[in-house]
Amino acid sequence: MRTLIQHADLVLPSGIVRADLLIESGKILGIDPPRNSAADDVVDATGLHLLPGVIDDQVHFRDPGLTHKEDLHTGSLACAKGGVTTFLEMPNTKPTTTSVEALHEKLALAATKSVVNYGFYIGATESNVPELAAAKRTPGIKIFIGSSTGDLLVDSQAALERIFAETTLPACAHCEDEATIAANKARLGTLNDVRQHSQLRDHKAAYVSTKRAIELAHRYNHRFHVLHVSTADELPLIRDHRNLITAEACPHHLLFHVGDYDRLGNLIQMNPSIKTAADNAALWQALRDGVIQVIATDHAPHTLEEKAQPYPQSPSGLPAVENSLALMLDAMHRGECTLEQIVSWMCDAPARVWDIANKGRIAEGYDADLVLVDLNKKQTVRNADQLTKSRWSPWDGVELTGWPVRTWVMGKTVYQDGRVDAAHRGHETLFDHSRGGFWS
Ligand code: DOR
Repeated sequence: MRTLIQHADLVLPSGIVRADLLIESGKILGIDPPRNSAADDVVDATGLHLLPGVIDDQVHFRDPGLTHKEDLHTGSLACAKGGVTTFLEMPNTKPTTTSVEALHEKLALAATKSVVNYGFYIGATESNVPELAAAKRTPGIKIFIGSSTGDLLVDSQAALERIFAETTLPACAHCEDEATIAANKARLGTLNDVRQHSQLRDHKAAYVSTKRAIELAHRYNHRFHVLHVSTADELPLIRDHRNLITAEACPHHLLFHVGDYDRLGNLIQMNPSIKTAADNAALWQALRDGVIQVIATDHAPHTLEEKAQPYPQSPSGLPAVENSLALMLDAMHRGECTLEQIVSWMCDAPARVWDIANKGRIAEGYDADLVLVDLNKKQTVRNADQLTKSRWSPWDGVELTGWPVRTWVMGKTVYQDGRVDAAHRGHETLFDHSRGGFWS
């Protein structure tokens, strides 16, 4: 099966060029192939831009165990619609993904359910270093240095030291300091207003925990990715990367600030919490400066009924995977970034951070994971249109300019004209950690 995509503006590592692209057997065969190249399917992409498929390196798809919120099928449908061709999923499911056996079970489940490509982190506990050391088939180790949804938490210094000292897989962490949060809680007294969430999980909680994790990474010479950076305060810590540290920002920490609680309430209750407009601006600048390399969603669905409980019973987390690319394209129109930067942050950098060969770029021999976008398409996000099982978005009612119109996974169309091919199955993502990560 050969597909020829004609007249697209291709976003290549070297810049944007108008050219044709030939796909065969799931791979990019050639850019600007000879005229009259034979193909089974010819796509006229005049006026559209072709990007590598998005690699979202932080999603929570709740499968197994919490599948009333999301599952690997519905999460992957949302990915296909959003232009996300590969997701890396977090271990706070039920059971948790904290053993090699649980990791392999999740991979087997995804093979039967996921429309797009998949990978799964192995979660750290206070006592599972042998499992972390034995795991293969994974992007790396996820550590909750700060509790969030679920009961995964590694807070003791001795356990953290062991993880950084005795494992070799790249690690990433949720960084919010438990002791700081506890002290804030004592000071705040009764919690009954979601605005308090940003005082409970404040700037200090993020700073102290990120500092602790980066010190461990430096001390043990261990590759480490800071998930969902939310404050300007953490940026100097991350800037001192010593070829080991990379970092991620999420759309909600770029686009929402504490003033939005009045409008959106518990819907934007997240861990790490939403911070200030000054933090939004600092995170954008850090992306443009290369201090933060990756954009991912932390897609963390809960049902609207769960979110409607009074704070603090309401759970933290929001869904975003099907709108993240459109949110970024819309931000591009406002002058926050360029299309090439979006591709760098959402496609190329995550592939490099997690050692994924042959993804994240449009180049000969690379996997044909692709997304065609219409930069001028205007569409309003509507809860009723969402494919995530949670069926809502904090951006409900917001018109965005720039949308994915067609998505290919390994050369197969999985999304087109508003419809996902729910029968398609993606592939297990392969990680080659000998590549050495983003800085190598
Ligand atoms: O608010 C959050 N919710 N932050 C996370 O990092 C995890 C998450 C979840 O799993 O619900």
